[in-house]
Amino acid sequence: MADNTHGVTLLGAGLIGMFYAMTLHDQRRRDRIRVVQSRTEERAQALAREWDIPHVETDMRRAIEHPDTDVVVIGLPNNLHKEAVLAAAQAGKAVLCTKPLGVNAQDAAEMLHAVEEAGVFHGYLEDLAYTPKTLKALASIRNGALGKVTWTRSREAHPGPHSDWFWDQKQSGGGAIVDLGCHCIAIGRNFIGKDIRPTEAMCWAATQVKPIDAEDNAIGLVRYENGAISQFEVSWTYRGGMDLRDEVAGTEGAVRLDHFLRTGMELFTATGEKGYVAEKAESETGWLFPVGDEVHALGYPHMFTDMFESLDGDRAPMETFYDGYVVNAIMDACYASARSKRWEPVKLETWRGQTGLSSAPEAVDYDEKHYLIKKELMPDGRRKLILKDKATGEMLQRIEERS
Ligand SMILES: NC(=O)c1ccc[n+]([C@@H]2O[C@H](COP(=O)([O-])OP(=O)(O)OC[C@H]3O[C@@H](n4cnc5c(N)ncnc54)[C@H](O)[C@@H]3O)[C@@H](O)[C@H]2O)c1
Repeated sequence: MADNTHGVTLLGAGLIGMFYAMTLHDQRRRDRIRVVQSRTEERAQALAREWDIPHVETDMRRAIEHPDTDVVVIGLPNNLHKEAVLAAAQAGKAVLCTKPLGVNAQDAAEMLHAVEEAGVFHGYLEDLAYTPKTLKALASIRNGALGKVTWTRSREAHPGPHSDWFWDQKQSGGGAIVDLGCHCIAIGRNFIGKDIRPTEAMCWAATQVKPIDAEDNAIGLVRYENGAISQFEVSWTYRGGMDLRDEVAGTEGAVRLDHFLRTGMELFTATGEKGYVAEKAESETGWLFPVGDEVHALGYPHMFTDMFESLDGDRAPMETFYDGYVVNAIMDACYASARSKRWEPVKLETWRGQTGLSSAPEAVDYDEKHYLIKKELMPDGRRKLILKDKATGEMLQRIEERS
């Protein structure tokens, strides 16, 4: 498009369609949605009216092939992502797909091959890797503030999704793991380093509350080749709103992030706001936890900025279809583990990162004969040193001499 502005076809006019439109049109931005497609014309018309979108379609192919657009943004139910990606690749348009990329790794691999063979730009719309807090934490980690990252924890829990198709495994591909675990796994990969290979997964998944076929709660562990471990907790039955939290621990530091229920804004109302408070909020009265700028808190503006800047700069964005594929492969291992109750390998048809990394701890020398295990200042002012004798393996303690 002229002057580096892009015309967007938006597929889907549901919740994510609303967030994407709000992000691209609410504040001053160059790129515009020119076509919105939805199953029902009324829903597409409503979104088009609200955000000044000139064309409305109910047919996916016509929307993708529309001459006014060069970028296709996919915000459809999970089982429709592949058809949309293949059609966009065939049309030779850049394609940005929401999470999860596929309903499983095979689905995601087909999408990855399609965009790579067609040579079109591709971005995986994993907004939670782009929240301002996450980007700040990632910058600190890259600067060495945490040393080597050894553990991450990511939690996404809320009272359950807002549309029928999420609850139907045939359309969604799974329950809380596919819907929410994909975010947590992507966040963990970013903190540990996306060039570090995820090797195996252990997962508990259960249908604790709702009468559905898929899991409504799950906890998982993903092990990485360098010894780091990434933990996720997901729930479709957590009461009280949307709990989005991350923690990272490294050899030299730690970070804790709270993205939603406790962002620093708390509001009490006896009468109620008479409307929307925040995504998945459960009440409109009493103590409420509004979010100052929801699309920013969830990472959408930074995400689209990276996508369009990368497209213009002819480089890959931070999150590509390969990342979406790796996340799907990790989730497949989680489902296998939930069934077998064992660690299951993460099966990747290609690995594009580092190989041959060691998971052994890196010992710190204290002097020629000892490793330093730790130092601690005691209440009486003494500083204790815990040391390990390199030759005998014996553990000993010393009081550090004060100069
Ligand atoms: N944070 C995020 O990145 C985030 C948040 C919410 C949803 N999503 C993803 O976005 C996608 C859409 O989710 P949503 O919450 O917008 O869903 P939604 O139910 O709110 O909207 C779905 C849209 O797809 C259209 N559609 C077309 N064919 C359909 C079909 N056969 N069945 C149902 N709908 C059909 C609907 O008309 C509607 O416009 C999903 O892949 C979901 O995982 C991502």
